[in-house]
Amino acid sequence: MSESPSGSPRLDAYADPDRRVMEKAYARWAPLYDVVCGPIFESGRRAAAAAARRVGGRILEVGVGTGLSFADYDHTTAVVGIDMSAPMVAKARARLATGRFPHVESVMVMDASDLAFADAAFDCVVAQFVITLVADPERVLDECARVVRPGGEIILVNHLYSETGLTAAIERLLARPSRALGLRPEFPFARLAAWAERHGAVALIERRPIKPLGVYTLVRFRRLADEAARAAA
Ligand SMILES: C[S@@+](CC[C@H](N)C(=O)[O-])C[C@H]1O[C@@H](n2cnc3c(N)ncnc32)[C@H](O)[C@@H]1O
Repeated sequence: MSESPSGSPRLDAYADPDRRVMEKAYARWAPLYDVVCGPIFESGRRAAAAAARRVGGRILEVGVGTGLSFADYDHTTAVVGIDMSAPMVAKARARLATGRFPHVESVMVMDASDLAFADAAFDCVVAQFVITLVADPERVLDECARVVRPGGEIILVNHLYSETGLTAAIERLLARPSRALGLRPEFPFARLAAWAERHGAVALIERRPIKPLGVYTLVRFRRLADEAARAAA
C-alpha cells in the first residue's frame, strides 16, 4: 500500500489492506457490527467454531471482533480472543462481562501479525472472516502456525475469490470500493495453499464450502509434529 501526497493511504486495488484503513473501518463498524454482520456471517462462524470444538482445549480466536462467536463454544474449550481494533474489543469485553461465557478466558487488543503468546500455546487457532483483511496474510499465518501445538489446527473461514465467471468479475470490480468498508472480495484460495506448501510444518487438511449457499469456504490446516515436518521437507 502506498501513500498519497497528503500522507493518507492510497487504495491500490488488489493490494493487501492497509492496517490504518482497516482500523478506521472497524472503529466505524463496532457499534453496528452485531446487527449488520452478525446474521450475514453466522453460517461461517458456526461452522468454524464447530470444527474448533472437535479439536477442543485452548482455542485462540484471531480477529475475534465483538465476540459474536463466544456462544458457539462451550465448557470443553478455553477461548482467548485477540483483535487489533480497540472499539471491537470493547464490545467483546462487554459481552464477556455478562457472565454468560465462562469458557472465554480473556479478550485482548493485539495485532495478529505479532502474537504475544509462546510457541505451541494453543490446541487450535481460529480466524473467522479475518485473513483476507490483514495487512500481511502470510505473516499472520506464520504466527498462527507458531502458536498452535504440533497436531493442533488452524481453522479459517472466509469468502474467497470466485476465480472465474461473472461473480469473479464483480468481485474484481468491488475490490477497490469495498476496501474502505473493511471488506475484501478478491482473495484467492491459492494463496493459502501456497503458504502451507512453503511453510513446511503445516498440512492443508480440508477445504469445503459452507452450506446453505456455499458463499464461504472453511479451510483447515494441521500443524505437523516436528518429525513429520522434517520428513516432509
Ligand atoms: C470481518 S471482522 C470479523 C470479526 C469476527 N471474527 C466475526 O466473525 O464476527 C474482521 C476483524 O478482523 C480484525 N483484524 C483485521 N486485521 C487484524 C490484525 N492484523 N490483527 C488482529 N485483528 C485484525 C478487525 O479489527 C475485525 O474485528
